[in-house]
Amino acid sequence: MRVGPADVAAAAALLDGVATRTPVEESRAVSALAGGPVLLKCENLQRAGSFKIRGAYTRMARLSAEEKARGVVAASAGNHAQGVALAARMLGVHATVFMPQGAALPKVAATEEYGAEVVLEGSSVDDCLASARAHAERTGAVLIHPFDHPDVVAGQGTVGREILEQVPDVRTVIVPVGGGGLAAGVVAALADRPDVDVVGVQAAGAAAYPTSLAAGHPIPAARLRTMADGIAVGRPGDVPFGILHERHVPVRTVSEEHLSRALLLLAERAKLLVEPSGAAGVAALLAGGPPVRTPAVVILSGGNIDPIVLLRVVRHGLASAGRYLQMRVRIDDEPGALAALLGELAATGGNVMHVGHVRTGVDLAIDEVEIGVQVETRGPRHCTAVLEHLRAAGYRVTEG
Ligand SMILES: Cc1ncc(COP(=O)(O)O)c(C=O)c1O
Repeated sequence: MRVGPADVAAAAALLDGVATRTPVEESRAVSALAGGPVLLKCENLQRAGSFKIRGAYTRMARLSAEEKARGVVAASAGNHAQGVALAARMLGVHATVFMPQGAALPKVAATEEYGAEVVLEGSSVDDCLASARAHAERTGAVLIHPFDHPDVVAGQGTVGREILEQVPDVRTVIVPVGGGGLAAGVVAALADRPDVDVVGVQAAGAAAYPTSLAAGHPIPAARLRTMADGIAVGRPGDVPFGILHERHVPVRTVSEEHLSRALLLLAERAKLLVEPSGAAGVAALLAGGPPVRTPAVVILSGGNIDPIVLLRVVRHGLASAGRYLQMRVRIDDEPGALAALLGELAATGGNVMHVGHVRTGVDLAIDEVEIGVQVETRGPRHCTAVLEHLRAAGYRVTEG
C-alpha cells in the first residue's frame, strides 16, 4: 500500500484549521551535538500534546456517515487515545479507547475529558489492540489503528510536509519510531525529495524495527522495557514497515540514559517540555553514532508526561549526566565524625541531598558506621574532584 505526497497534501487540506502548524525552533545546544544546524519540530506543542491528532482525524473524517454512527474504537498508551478522543469530539463520533492498566494518569484523564469512554485493560498496547479488535467485532465500531492504515500514515505525513515548507534546505529528518506511522508519513511526504535523509529512532529496550528491517519482514520485539511508552510497540505495522523498508530508512536505537538526558537537555537548554518518546531524536544525537547531514530537523513528537514520571526521569537524567554522586563512606562511630565528613563535603562545593546512617553491617567493625550520601554536583569532573578530596582527607569511599 503506497502513500505519497499527493495523499499527504490531501490530508493537509483536511487538517487545515484542525491541527496546529507547529513551530520549528533552532537549538544551539542540539546543533552542537550534530556539528551543524539542527531545528526542532515542536509537535509537543500540538493539540492534545502530540502529532497523533493528524492521523486520527484524517482517518476518522473519511469514514462514511454510517460508519461514524457506529462509533470508533482505539487502543493506545495515551497519545493516540487523546488524538482519537479529540478528533471524535470534533467529528461528533462516539469513541471507546482501550488503554493499558499502567497508562499515565494525565493521559487517561485527558482522554476522558475529551469525551471518550476509556477501558483500562492488559499491560501493553498490543494487549489493548487485541481487546479493541474484539470490541470492534462485537459492536461494529470502526477500529482506528494507531499506525497501520494509509490514512493514518498520510495524516502523520503532514508533519513532514510542514518541515519541507518551514526548512526547505533540510537534509535530514530524525523521527521517533513506534509502529512506524509517523516515520512512514514523513517518508511519503518527502518522496519527491531524494536529497533528504530520514532517520528513525527506537528505544533499545523496545526495538522491533532494526531486526525486522534486516529480516525484510515485521518481527515482534522480544521485550518492551523503556520509559518511552509512546514508542514501546511490539510489532511494526505492515503499511509503515513496507514504506520504511522500501526506502531503506535506517532505524537507530537509544539507551534509557540517552532518553532521560535528552529530555533534560530539552527542558534546560531549549525550554521545551517533551516526553521520553518525543525526545528520542535528540537522544540519538546525544548518543553519537553516524553523523547526520545538516540542516537537520528533529521531530519532538510529543509532550505528554506524567509529572511523577517527569520527576523520576529528571533524576535519572541528572544521574546519567553525572550531576548526582551517590557514595558510601566509612567513618568512626564517635561524636563529631559525621559533622567532620559534612565539613569536608562542604569544602568541595557539593550540595548534600540525602544522608543515611548504617550502623549494623556484617563487614562493619563495631566502632564504625557507614554513611550513605547523595550529593548534587556540577557534573562528572566535579564528581571526581569530590571523591578525590574525600580520599585525600583519609576517608574510605565507595561509589554507588
Ligand atoms: C510521542 C510519540 N512519539 C512517537 C510515536 C511513534 O509513532 P508511530 O507509532 O507512528 O511510529 C508515538 C506513538 O504513539 C508517540 O506517542
